[in-house]
Amino acid sequence: MFRPDLYQALHTGNDGDIAFYLSRCQAKNTLELGCGAGRISIEIAKTGAQIIGIDEHTGMIDIAKQKATEAGVSEKCTWLEADMEEFDLKKRFERIIIPYSTFYCLPDLSAKRECLKSISRHLTLSGELWFDGYLMPSNEEYEFEGHTEYEDLMEIEVNGQKVKVQEMDQHDQDEQRCMIHYRFLFEDGSMHKEKIHHHYIYPDQIKDLLKQCGLKARYIWADFQGNPLKEDSERMIVCAKLAQ
Ligand SMILES: C[S@@+](CC[C@H](N)C(=O)[O-])C[C@H]1O[C@@H](n2cnc3c(N)ncnc32)[C@H](O)[C@@H]1O
Repeated sequence: MFRPDLYQALHTGNDGDIAFYLSRCQAKNTLELGCGAGRISIEIAKTGAQIIGIDEHTGMIDIAKQKATEAGVSEKCTWLEADMEEFDLKKRFERIIIPYSTFYCLPDLSAKRECLKSISRHLTLSGELWFDGYLMPSNEEYEFEGHTEYEDLMEIEVNGQKVKVQEMDQHDQDEQRCMIHYRFLFEDGSMHKEKIHHHYIYPDQIKDLLKQCGLKARYIWADFQGNPLKEDSERMIVCAKLAQ
């Protein structure tokens, strides 16, 4: 069974991502897709922006609601349990964001296309879509195909208990799929397992998808500082707008 408390304790973001999304969304009406526990949305809400966060997991939405209340911004935030692949909120936003490789949770190109079509129906004329994701090397020298062994990843603290986390990755380069397996080892000897499926994409694919959905890539950067993408970049930061 999915454990939102473990998921949020483990997924703490990438260096600089909160500051980056804050700089893009400061005081702008913003929609976050796959908002999780509100790690980024709540910070944006603190700047005075109205925020809508969508997540498919009730448990994540429940944590986001509680954290927004604790931060004193619950009136700025609306949390919706919904699928980011297809949604109709009957309103448009100045910013739509999908931080932290969450776009890769959509299982294939078709699901990504549907999500981008939904996004194009929700952006204002001057609105911006921003998202980031890791980049897998596209050459044949990629170091593993198949799966790794379980390795210690980190230690987290959940409800006052220390929990050791181990990770094992499966990778299929032809299908552009990663499956990340986690083992959570508790002090009392019990164990919990979770897995995450990712379908990752490359910059040229995202440019094509955006075009097919009435959107246009404005920038594709290698990092949160806006440096240009290179062959060996490990990350891409994408900004898109409505095509017309
Ligand atoms: C890596 S977490 C990111 C959470 C948050 N954006 C952050 O940066 O901390 C990915 C989130 O996306 C949600 N998610 C995955 N697929 C989704 C879908 N199809 N529709 C809505 N939410 C989804 C998961 O439940 C999870 O909370």
